[in-house]
Amino acid sequence: MIKLIPVDRLLPGMYIHDLNCGWMEHNFVRNSFEVSDMATAEKVRALGTHEVYIDTDRGLDVANAPTLEEAAHEVDEQIEAIVTTSTSPVAPASLADEVARARLLHREANVIVRNMMGDIRLGKQIELERIEPLVTQIVDSIFRQQDALLPLSLLKSHDEYTFQHSVSVCTLMTSFARALALPREIIHEIAIGALLHDVGKAKVPDAILNKPAKLTDAEFDKMKSHVVQSKVILLGTPGISDIALDVAAQHHERFDGTGYPNKLKGEQISLYGQMGAIVDVYDALTSNRCYHKGRPPTEALRKLLEWSKFHFKPDLVQAFIRTIGIYPSGSLVRLESGRLAVVQEQHTDKLMQPTVKVMFHTKGHYLTPEIVDLRRSQDRIVSHESFEEWKIDPQQWLPA
Ligand SMILES: [Fe+2]
Repeated sequence: MIKLIPVDRLLPGMYIHDLNCGWMEHNFVRNSFEVSDMATAEKVRALGTHEVYIDTDRGLDVANAPTLEEAAHEVDEQIEAIVTTSTSPVAPASLADEVARARLLHREANVIVRNMMGDIRLGKQIELERIEPLVTQIVDSIFRQQDALLPLSLLKSHDEYTFQHSVSVCTLMTSFARALALPREIIHEIAIGALLHDVGKAKVPDAILNKPAKLTDAEFDKMKSHVVQSKVILLGTPGISDIALDVAAQHHERFDGTGYPNKLKGEQISLYGQMGAIVDVYDALTSNRCYHKGRPPTEALRKLLEWSKFHFKPDLVQAFIRTIGIYPSGSLVRLESGRLAVVQEQHTDKLMQPTVKVMFHTKGHYLTPEIVDLRRSQDRIVSHESFEEWKIDPQQWLPA
């Protein structure tokens, strides 16, 4: 049986099923292993994770701990609350009109960020005026129709991760800030900070950034130093705002004080830093890395909700989920009819009933693609699915 236990109850002889803290927060080789001695238990505690999943069939049991199903039920109840408090936004522009523009913009953004990182490696300063027009276009696109640009953040290749992650965090943060009804000038600064939040990675050797194996403690420290490096680079950037600086300098801080580099706690972390942390983790969880398989978006959101007990402010995680939907655009879902569909467009007042493109049957064959608005259909979503497991290419089924 899989159970969720507080880390302070972890003892040698227990078998960790899931460290429950996201791949980016630790340098254990695997996520599942037997706790062989007290030192290993201590190392897990030092990660800053508060709860881990143990497998009681493979190691010692703990009485009075919730099972995996009971823990999942708690997340379900939170999702229920999110669904019932969603509101209707201003009607967006047509998705069809925005899609081609968003694709071009996304491609251009990746090229600009790649060139900028190359320049920083060479010791050049960031010229804000070169990225301002790009950020303006991203903000405009999100305001017109966010379901065109947002799903593109789910398409990433291993070797381009750092650039694509920066662009994804920028689009997600813009949409998050818009949903929080922040003023447009502030959203623009948040978007700049998001696009530049990881520029410090230009100072981390590629051999560490893309190492396809466990990082040593020293390498891990070097990796973590990218946050301080980002701050140093941005402090040397003429015209950078405090808001953009907060996003970059605080995106690895955690609400309970277990983050880095300054172990800031609660409201010591600015709203922009807190938003950055949530979006950064969401995008990292949904991305494929060297030896980490990306999770489907819905699963990543469930993890964020679970961790929001400690690492994030729960209200803010819930607001983020209301922003991108429980089944974010671009994700694969299974309908009650046994058909699979790719989510195309959110209806923020009906998060469980987005518009989808039906294209596959779980019996194993493709269907003639059909756009279905689930608000007006007898069919309904019963679960999220993984593109990889069904061997379906997501690229082909995004809004066109
Ligand atoms: Fe980072």
